[in-house]
Amino acid sequence: MTAAYPVIPAVPEPVRWARVFPGAPAQVPEARRFVSRVLAGCPARETLVMCVSELCTNAIAHTVSGVGGVFTVEVELPRDGVARIAVTDAGGATEPTPGRSRRRAADGLAEGGRGLALVAASTSRWGYRDIGPGLGRTVWAEATWPVAVPDTWTQTPPGSRVATLRRDWRGGDGAA
Ligand SMILES: Nc1ncnc2c1ncn2[C@@H]1O[C@H](COP(=O)(O)OP(=O)(O)OP(=O)(O)O)[C@@H](O)[C@H]1O
Ligand SMILES: [Mg+2]
Repeated sequence: MTAAYPVIPAVPEPVRWARVFPGAPAQVPEARRFVSRVLAGCPARETLVMCVSELCTNAIAHTVSGVGGVFTVEVELPRDGVARIAVTDAGGATEPTPGRSRRRAADGLAEGGRGLALVAASTSRWGYRDIGPGLGRTVWAEATWPVAVPDTWTQTPPGSRVATLRRDWRGGDGAA
């Protein structure tokens, strides 16, 4: 049978990469390249590259990172089937809120407030945490994909009793 996903090396223990970028828009493609290189061969690569693009853009647009500061990008492979990116900024007045954009309220354009919604819709989980009062915030997104696991489900240890279902999965009485 052909594998449905590219085979990437198993992750024997959590792996993590981090890099600091100047808080300028021209650094967003650099951050994308960093994540893309680290996640080469990973099924979630494209999704997480898109996410890091949104989160870095937010760090620059909505926090002090974009006013002569920096932001940090981390990539983590905690276990097989899971990859995460995180962007730590220098702190801002607002909270990361999907669908909310100050720009929209200010200029009346039906734009903005889509980046985080896109991140939320394309990943398994996302979130943020303050790294300390006024010190900044880490916004992260996690993607998952199916991995093969040892086949314990269909193996019955010798001598064990096998319970017989009286009802089938459709709620019938299971009579054969
Ligand atoms: N790192 C952050 N720190 C503080 N506020 C944030 C951060 N990221 C996002 N926000 C807030 O959440 C709102 C929604 O972010 P989102 O990325 O969805 O939209 P946007 O950046 O306003 O517009 P766009 O659709 O171009 O991404 C932002 O307008 C901002 O108020
Ligand atoms: Mg945004």
